[in-house]
Amino acid sequence: MTYAPFDLTGKVALVTGGNRGIGLGMARALAASNASLAIWGRKDAANAEAVEELSKLGTGEVKAWSVDVADEQAVIDATADTVAQMGRIDSCFANAGVGFGAASFAEMTTETWRKNMAVNLDGAFWTMREAVKHMTERAKAGDPGGSIVGVASLAAIEGASRNQAYAATKGGLISMLRAIATETARYGIRANAILPGWIATDMTQAAQDTEVFTTKVISRVPIRRWGEPDDFGGVAVYLASDASSYHTGGTFVIDGGYSIF
Ligand SMILES: NC(=O)c1ccc[n+]([C@@H]2O[C@H](COP(=O)([O-])OP(=O)(O)OC[C@H]3O[C@@H](n4cnc5c(N)ncnc54)[C@H](OP(=O)(O)O)[C@@H]3O)[C@@H](O)[C@H]2O)c1
Repeated sequence: MTYAPFDLTGKVALVTGGNRGIGLGMARALAASNASLAIWGRKDAANAEAVEELSKLGTGEVKAWSVDVADEQAVIDATADTVAQMGRIDSCFANAGVGFGAASFAEMTTETWRKNMAVNLDGAFWTMREAVKHMTERAKAGDPGGSIVGVASLAAIEGASRNQAYAATKGGLISMLRAIATETARYGIRANAILPGWIATDMTQAAQDTEVFTTKVISRVPIRRWGEPDDFGGVAVYLASDASSYHTGGTFVIDGGYSIF
């Protein structure tokens, strides 16, 4: 028999950037655990493909919204529409992200800084704020609970050369989550960060294609391979489930041991 809290029947999870990469890896496990899913991403074709795949995995309903999280009004409208169509949001995975670096910090442009901020920090702020608003209202109406999850990065805690803007967004995200955790705990809402290491997705395609990167960096990962999107399924199910109801303000480092080696 499955450990009962890991059956997410009746729960609704929102995954931004859930149409590919780490977001899709988390969504697959959530769907297989019978959660209903709201997937947000900008590309309609990728959204449709994800819905088709995820719908086959469990008993929950799966729908996608075309949303640019860097657009505040779009996030506000999509949250309202997600709640209207799915009935509620029990867990919110603010995962959508971009990674723009520079040849050096000295050469990093303001445009690069702003492109990282717009999605990774502004987008996560609006997404999590709207989800917390919904969860708080629900709690005040007698139905407490909810899980806010931000996908940060090892870049927040390790020196990410040539990626200072990206690193700053991820450090800021962790700080924001801790502050959400303390404020919303009274409503049964918890807020946690996931810090992936080196994961094979579109975001790291250039590094995957570079022999020297695999030789010099991936060989230093104690588990000795790239992380895969499906490596994030377990933590997603845990954080969406009542099994994590006493776990808040946490940082889940999932990096094959890279940061401790
Ligand atoms: N891969 C790694 O090694 C790694 C390591 C540490 C942290 N992370 C973090 O993990 C998260 C997922 O990354 P990933 O590697 O899975 O990246 P990915 O494969 O490039 O996927 C990014 C996802 O975010 C969505 N997205 C991007 N900009 C968006 C926007 N403005 N509005 C809505 N959705 C948007 C994309 O969908 P559309 O293109 O359809 O919008 C896509 O679903 C990111 O926050 C990233 O910073 C990744």
